[in-house]
Amino acid sequence: MKNFVFYNPTKIIFGENTISKIGEEIKKFGLNKILLHYGSGSIKRNGVYDQVINSLKEYNIEWIEVSGVKPNPRLSKVYEGIKFAKEHNVDGILAVGGGSVIDSAKAIAGGFYYDGDIWDAYSKKYIIKKALPLFSVLTLSATGSEMNGNSVITKEETKQKWATSSKELYPKVSIIDPTAQYSLPEKQTINGAVDAISHVMEYYFDGTKDTEIQDQIAEGIIRTVIKNTEILLENPKDYNARSNLAWSATLALNGLLRAGSNGGDWASHTLEHSVSALFDIAHGEGLAIIFPAWLEYVKNEYIEKFDRFAKEIFNIDTGNAAIDANLGIQALKEWYKRIGQPISLKEIGATEKDIERLVENAIQSSPMGKLKKLEEKEIREIYTIALKNK
Ligand code: NZQ
Ligand code: ZN
Repeated sequence: MKNFVFYNPTKIIFGENTISKIGEEIKKFGLNKILLHYGSGSIKRNGVYDQVINSLKEYNIEWIEVSGVKPNPRLSKVYEGIKFAKEHNVDGILAVGGGSVIDSAKAIAGGFYYDGDIWDAYSKKYIIKKALPLFSVLTLSATGSEMNGNSVITKEETKQKWATSSKELYPKVSIIDPTAQYSLPEKQTINGAVDAISHVMEYYFDGTKDTEIQDQIAEGIIRTVIKNTEILLENPKDYNARSNLAWSATLALNGLLRAGSNGGDWASHTLEHSVSALFDIAHGEGLAIIFPAWLEYVKNEYIEKFDRFAKEIFNIDTGNAAIDANLGIQALKEWYKRIGQPISLKEIGATEKDIERLVENAIQSSPMGKLKKLEEKEIREIYTIALKNK
C-alpha cells in the first residue's frame, strides 16, 4: 500500500424524507441568498423542486435560479451562471440534480472568485483556490460528484471535455434521498451503475500491489452494484436496492478507494470523455464501450489482478489465469449487454473514419494511464478494439 492522505469534508445526509433538511443545513453556514442550479425539469416533475423550495422558504433563504444544465454540462451555461451569481451577489450555490448539475455548479462556484476564464482550471492553467460554498441534493447516483472535489465540463467550440479537481469544490453538505431516484428512466439507472463500476475499476486496475482492504471494498461495491441494478430493473421503486446502489456509487469515488493506491488509472475515463464530447452520448454508455476495450488491451500488464476480478465478481475459476482474465472481461461485456448498454463504438453510429477524430481529441490529454502509459499509438489501438467489440 502507498502512503496516503485521506481528506473528505462533505457531510452526507442519507435517507427518505431528508430533502427538507437542506434549508437548515444552508442556514448553518450563515447564508442568506443562493443560486439554485438544476437541469431540464425532472426535479419539477418528481416533486424534488417543491421539497427544496419549501425548505428554503422555511429557513428564509432567498434564491435565484439558473436551470437548463444539459448532460455533459457545457461551459456556456457555466459562464451564464457565474455572471448571474455575481450580478445577484449570492453567497452560496445549491445544485439539485445529477452529476452534470453538480459539476456545473462547481465550475460556477470556482468561477465566482476567479478573475480569469474558469476554463483555465480545466486546461490545467489554474487550480481553484477559492469557491462559493456548495450544497447538493442528489437525484441520480453515478458520478460521486456529491462527495468529491471533481468537475467535468465540455467546451462546446473545441469539443474538449476536461476535468478539474480542487479541495475547494467538495460540497459542504449533500443530501441523498434514494426515493428521489424512483423517477429515473431505466437507462439513467443503468448509466449510473456502469459509471460506479468504472470508478471502482479505475482504482482496482491501476497497478498498485498489496491493497487487500481496498480490493475487498472494491469487489464488494461492484457486486452490490450488479445485484441491486438487477433488482431495480424489475422494480425501480425498491427502496433498499436504490439505497444500496446510491451509497455504492458515492463510495466508489469519494476518495475511499484512492487511499493507498497509485491514484487510479483514469485512461478509460479520459478516452470516454472524448467519446461523449464528440458523440454527445451519456458517460455511462461511453464507459460500457471503452472500459472493456481498455481491459482487453492492458490485461497482460497485471494478469493476476484480472484473474482475481474474474473469480471475485463472476465466480470464474478454470485454474488458468489467462483464460480466467479473458472470461472475466467477456462476462462484464455480457452483463453490460444484458442490461442494455452498447459495448462497441459501432452501436453509437461510429465508423472507421471516426477513430482519427477520437484519437485527435484524446491525445490532447496524453500520455494517460498508470497500469500502462498510453500515447497516440496505444490510444488508436484501444479505440479500434472498441469499434469492433462484441
Ligand atoms: O436535466 P434533468 O432534468 O436533471 O434530467 C437528467 C438528465 O437528463 C436526468 N435525471 C437526473 N435525475 C433524475 C433524472 N430524471 C428523472 N428523475 C431523476 N431523479 O438524468 C439525465 C442525466 O443526468 P446527468 O446529471 O447528466 O447524469 P450523471 O449523474 O451520470 O452525470 C454525468 C456527468 O458527470 C460527469 C460525466 O462525464 C457527465 O458529464 N462525471 C463527473 C464526475 C465527477 N464530478 O466526479 C466523474 C465521472 O466519472 C464523470 O466523468
Ligand atoms: Zn465516471
